[in-house]
Amino acid sequence: MKIFIDTADLDEIKEAASWGILDGVTTNPSLIKKAVEKMKAKGKEISMEGYIRQICKAVNGPVSLEVKGRSSEEMIKEAKILYEKFNEVNNNVVIKIPVNTAFSLEEPQFEGIKAIKELESNGIPTNATLVMTPEQALLAAKAGASYVSPFLGRVDDFIRKNLGIKHGKMDYWDYEAIELIEQEERKRSIEKGYEGAAGINYGDNGIYSGVELVYDIIETYEAYGYETKIIAASIRNARQVREVAMLGVDIATIPFAVIKEMIGHYKTMEGMKKFSEDVVEEYEKIFKS
Ligand code: E4P
Repeated sequence: MKIFIDTADLDEIKEAASWGILDGVTTNPSLIKKAVEKMKAKGKEISMEGYIRQICKAVNGPVSLEVKGRSSEEMIKEAKILYEKFNEVNNNVVIKIPVNTAFSLEEPQFEGIKAIKELESNGIPTNATLVMTPEQALLAAKAGASYVSPFLGRVDDFIRKNLGIKHGKMDYWDYEAIELIEQEERKRSIEKGYEGAAGINYGDNGIYSGVELVYDIIETYEAYGYETKIIAASIRNARQVREVAMLGVDIATIPFAVIKEMIGHYKTMEGMKKFSEDVVEEYEKIFKS
């Protein structure tokens, strides 16, 4: 599995790159905003173009940069600007296009798909972002997207909110327990003559978690041999990374804090301390000769 870092913070990108495990970077307008605010708080002036160039240089792998427009025409124009300005730095720019740019169902729904189709036909690689359903991922693949980014954490947040479950930002979502509770309730309802069973839905239209969303997209793509690479995005904790890795997802884009969470364990630290204490003089001598 490839590991991308989900940040626009250059310090974080450089540090993760120095660990030797980094395969790419994903940014979005909110992450860029956070990075700019951090620089300003430090009293540093920032040239956005120079900063993005440094990001492209810092990693030898795809760097996703997002457009800001909402019509396909605007997005295609912006994508070409981003690609022309920054791809020459390290030949690694991918353009992030929201799979659907509408704010409501009354607005056009296919602007993102149209932009993906056009850009890919012109040789500009795209990453279909803000993907919350397998159907959106299917449409992105049909349009020829190079990458698709299902948003695990936001799907989990949505389901937990609908169920009135309070949680911290990085908390693991125990979707298997919720599926079991739903099954039990359905069983009880069926025993009572299917009374209200259809209304029992603890997930989001059959999706119970972000991890399950990734599973469904993998199955769909495998069924038809789509080559679109799946990037598990909006990751909130190390256990989610483990679960998408077990599914064989192509890429996970992971926040800096979660990459750090992946390496730590209390018993590893305890074991390390004991090994260090147990080094005898005779063993020590080997390293001195
Ligand atoms: C993906 O590429 C996005 O940048 C990101 O994963 C969104 O994560 P969030 O839901 O934590 O904001």
